[in-house]
This record gives sequence, C-alpha cells and structure tokens, in this order.
Amino acid sequence: MKMAAGRKKRPQASLEEEYASLLREYAAGGGEATLGRAYELGRRAIAERKSLLDLASIHHGALRALAQDTNNGKGREDVLRASADFLAECMSPYEMAQRGFQDAVRALRQLNETLEQEIKRIAYAVHDEAGQLLVAVHLALADMARELPKPQQEQLGRIKGLLNEVEKHLRRYSHELRPTILDDLGWIPAIRFLAEGISKRANLPIHIQARISGRLPGPAETALYRIVQESLNNAVKHAKARNIWIRAWRENQVLHCSIRDDGEGFDTHRAQGTPGRKGLGLIAMQERVSAIGGTLRIQSGPGQGTEISLRLPLETEHVNSCRAR
Ligand SMILES: Nc1ncnc2c1ncn2[C@@H]1O[C@H](COP(=O)(O)OP(=O)(O)OP(=O)(O)O)[C@@H](O)[C@H]1O
Ligand SMILES: [Mg+2]
Repeated sequence: MKMAAGRKKRPQASLEEEYASLLREYAAGGGEATLGRAYELGRRAIAERKSLLDLASIHHGALRALAQDTNNGKGREDVLRASADFLAECMSPYEMAQRGFQDAVRALRQLNETLEQEIKRIAYAVHDEAGQLLVAVHLALADMARELPKPQQEQLGRIKGLLNEVEKHLRRYSHELRPTILDDLGWIPAIRFLAEGISKRANLPIHIQARISGRLPGPAETALYRIVQESLNNAVKHAKARNIWIRAWRENQVLHCSIRDDGEGFDTHRAQGTPGRKGLGLIAMQERVSAIGGTLRIQSGPGQGTEISLRLPLETEHVNSCRAR
C-alpha cells in the first residue's frame, strides 16, 4: 500500500521515553486522562515482555529526571505522590495478568483432575471388564476341550496359555495406567513399579536413584507420575536409548526430578514449535508442571540424548502434607 506523500508514519517513542513524558505530564496535573494512558503504557510494557523489575527501573529513571527538573512548578511531596499513583496505575495490568494466570492454573488443575478420573475409569474398565470377558473365554474353552480328542485339547491348551499372557499384560497395563500404589504408597514406589514394567518390555535398563521420603499432595504426586511416565514412553518410543536414568532429590525447599536417556536426542525448538505437530506429550508435561506450580526444562539435541528436569518449590502446603502422612 502506498503512503500519501508527506504523511510518513512517525516511529513510536520508546517505552522509556513515553513513560518519562507521561509521568511529567501527570506530575504537572495531567489528571484522569493521563492515568488512563499510564494503564495503557503498562499493557504495552507487558506486550514488550518487560518484567516488573524493568518497569521499576524505568520509573526510577523517569522520576530522577523529573526530580532534577526544578521548573515544573510543583513541590517535591506532590511530585512523589503523583509518581506513586502513576506507577501503581502502570502496574495494574500486571496484576490483571497475574489474576488471569491464576484462573488459568485453576482451570488447568480442574482439567487434570477430570482427566485423572477418566483414566481411572478406563483402567478399571480394562482391568475388570476385559478380565471378566477373558474368564468367560476360558470357561467356553474348557467346555469345548471336554468334547475334543487329545491332540486338539493340546492345541487348546496352547491357546489358553496365550490367553493367560494377554490377561497378564492387560492387568499390568491397567495398573500402570493408574497404579493403586500411587495413592497407597506414593509417586516414588509407583515410578519404580512403572519403570520395572517398561524396562522388561523394552529390554532397556532404567536406573533409579531417589533420595526422597514422605508424601506430597495427591495432585502433585499424580502430576509427577504422569511426567515420568511420558518421559519414559518418549525415551522408549523415539530415542533408541541404551539406558535411562531417573533421579529425584530434595534441596532445601525444592524438589528436583530428572529423567535422562542416552539416545538420539532431538531438536527441541523444532519439536515444540512446528505448526501442525501431532504429539501432545511434551505440551501435556509442561501444563501439568505449571498446574502444580513447578517448572520444566527439556534439554536435548541431535546425538546428545535427552534430559527432562523438573523443579518444584515445595509450598508450606506440600511440606505439611509430607509430615502429615
Ligand atoms: N526422549 C526423546 N528422544 C528423542 N526424541 C524425542 C524424545 N522425546 C520427545 N522426542 C521428540 O519430540 C517429539 C514430540 O514429543 P511428544 O511427546 O510431544 O509427542 P509424541 O511422543 O510424538 O506423541 P504423544 O506423546 O502424543 O503420543 C517426538 O515426536 C519426538 O520426535
Ligand atoms: Mg510422547
């Protein structure tokens, strides 16, 4: 699109310049209209990814310049009071964003709880209903076997053996889907149980070093279990790893957990940023960690293996729960 001659767009003033100029305007008696623009400036600061500390530093610079200016006709007290109001207005979009974030975390927690209920339901269905069906098949085979000659009875015996294997695997999968030890004994025993099954099936050594005692609140333990579960699944599915290491430890009031493999690794930016990507595992992990107030770091690169590191500050709520159980 062509611009009309002589109407060049003026470049937008920097945040610092605009802040200083608006603060000056407000201190000189700018009133409500200027405060409204201070609010908009706060929104711009968020959009430009400025932290609250950045904003405080911008404010400090603008205030110093204003204090040096002796010609604004206002007393020192008035300037200070006006600048405090101005800063508060500029910061209020941060507060709104913080509230929005808390709402989102609450919604995420609820979503995870619903998901867990659904997983429980599926685990029970696999365990109980599929189990019952298999019992019915066993009975039907036993009936049939009575009327068959010896060689066919032996064949049926082999089929029964295979059915027993299917039943064993289904039981194992249903327990791993939602292990009862997760509720009864906690996330570390549940992870040991899971790792044992995966290690056998994938013929892959999984080394566990857990220096943690006590329990965490249910949602935190479930989230930790799911994150380790997805990391192990990924390592088996994608990494062609020869070893997996799981470590969990506590340092001061922070719980750490790391899942590392020595496999092929991957380009994390590409895997997380590709539009139309199909995998949900890494996103779900990030969301689960956010929902319990932790952070997750994924370190990987082609040929370098992969490490998922989780950091969970233990709130008073967590620590009390550790002691109470
Ligand atoms: N440990 C790993 N080693 C190598 N590549 C990995 C590893 N973990 C993840 N990846 C890569 O990152 C991609 C995204 O992983 P993500 O768990 O999100 O999805 P997925 O495993 O493909 O599918 P889903 O988890 O939904 O079943 C994978 O497709 C894989 O290419
Ligand atoms: Mg996955």
